[in-house]
Amino acid sequence: MEEASQNTETVKKVFIQTYGCQMNEYDTEKMFEVLKHQNYFQTDSREDADLIILNTCSIREKAENKVYSELGRLRKLKSVKPELKIGVGGCVAQQEGKAILRREASVDFVFGTDNLFELPEMLKKVSRGQEIIQTKRHARQKVRNFIPEYAFQQTQHHGIKAHLAITKGCNNHCSFCVVPFTRGIEVSREPENILAEAQRLTSAGTREICLLGQNVNSYKANGVDFVELLHRLDELENLQRLRFISPHPKDFHEELADAFVTLPSLCEQMHLPLQSGSDRILRRMRRWYTMETFYEKVAMLRDRLPEATLSTDLIVGFPGETEEEFEMTMEAVRTIRFDLIYSFKYSTRPGTRAAEYPEHLAEDVKSKRLQILLETQGKIVQEKNEALVGSIQEVLVQGKHYRKNSITGRTRGNHSVHINDSCAIAGDLLSVRITGALHNSLEAEIISKSTVLS
Ligand code: 5AD
Ligand code: SF4
Repeated sequence: MEEASQNTETVKKVFIQTYGCQMNEYDTEKMFEVLKHQNYFQTDSREDADLIILNTCSIREKAENKVYSELGRLRKLKSVKPELKIGVGGCVAQQEGKAILRREASVDFVFGTDNLFELPEMLKKVSRGQEIIQTKRHARQKVRNFIPEYAFQQTQHHGIKAHLAITKGCNNHCSFCVVPFTRGIEVSREPENILAEAQRLTSAGTREICLLGQNVNSYKANGVDFVELLHRLDELENLQRLRFISPHPKDFHEELADAFVTLPSLCEQMHLPLQSGSDRILRRMRRWYTMETFYEKVAMLRDRLPEATLSTDLIVGFPGETEEEFEMTMEAVRTIRFDLIYSFKYSTRPGTRAAEYPEHLAEDVKSKRLQILLETQGKIVQEKNEALVGSIQEVLVQGKHYRKNSITGRTRGNHSVHINDSCAIAGDLLSVRITGALHNSLEAEIISKSTVLS
């Protein structure tokens, strides 16, 4: 449990349930930071909380449904604890606004993705019994410091790994995606503001930073582009590892590929969302690349770093996707041999272009395709993990593993590694030999250790 600031007012407890992506996790951390200044402690128990916030996700229908089931459970809790305040934030809140209050009377306030720093004022009004819907977007600006400095001024320990948002929003409007509606237009943060937060993190013990953005590599602010920003972050003392998600293939170019070679902290790992292996589907998705150019991008990375790990996102069952077109996705998966894929059944999102497309596929067709994809990918991962057995890898220790006397960490390629040894602590950098390949992780033994925490 985090400590609240030293105010004499009554201390209250907040529970935040986070759904969805890393951007939401990051926003939740910032909410805790804001609420700490309002004398709120973090609690892990809903029953114990004075305030419950759901930080919601609407990327797929399933994620959205989860929010409403949780609100149903919370209604019961509120019926025995009427003073409990319930807020809904994040992407569902941004889109649904008032409809949430209408549907679920136990909700006291709803706030959008641009409004989390307005929580103190909202809570004041809520405590006076006012019903709040705050989903107003900020002015349309390409560059803005959307994280106020006070939200990263605390010297609390963030852990060995931390996320850091450098852009928010998205201008791409891929036809299936709700993000441009829920997160608004793309905004880049000023480099000085990003560096200040990164500095704060590394001084507090963070050794690995993962930069976040819906379209992270299109970052540009005050004449600093994404590659330049990576260079500046790489110079930070004590930063061992730098990663980023999610890039768009259209903005992956030679200079960025070179950065993987020249910047010591930039890990040899990249997430490059493909979505489909069919050019026709890619066009209908409004992705603006072809398979030919995607293969060129993969080569750009692998020609420089053959060992780099590559992950991707894939959608199966997009409207109108034929068996042949699905087979093209399978062909791409077999040819590229990604180290990891995040695969999804297409989910209709109201308001998006694809929702209006004809030829939506039946759920069982989508499920079958997903299953075929997962089976093939499972074999590829197993083979790739087995090929790593015997190799020497650098592992950044994350902490203790649930198995007794063992620790867990990640390679630079982002493979999860378990080590049957308890002589290292979080933050240690180990040189290890891989001794075994499990389904989703590797086993290893320590060769040598260097403690990097200063
Ligand atoms: N249906 C299924 N998957 C989706 N994604 C985004 N929108 C949808 C949707 N409507 C997936 C994409 C994206 C990832 C974050 O989520 O693959 O890259
Ligand atoms: Fe959605 Fe496409 Fe933007 Fe990614 S790039 S957030 S998939 S619209």
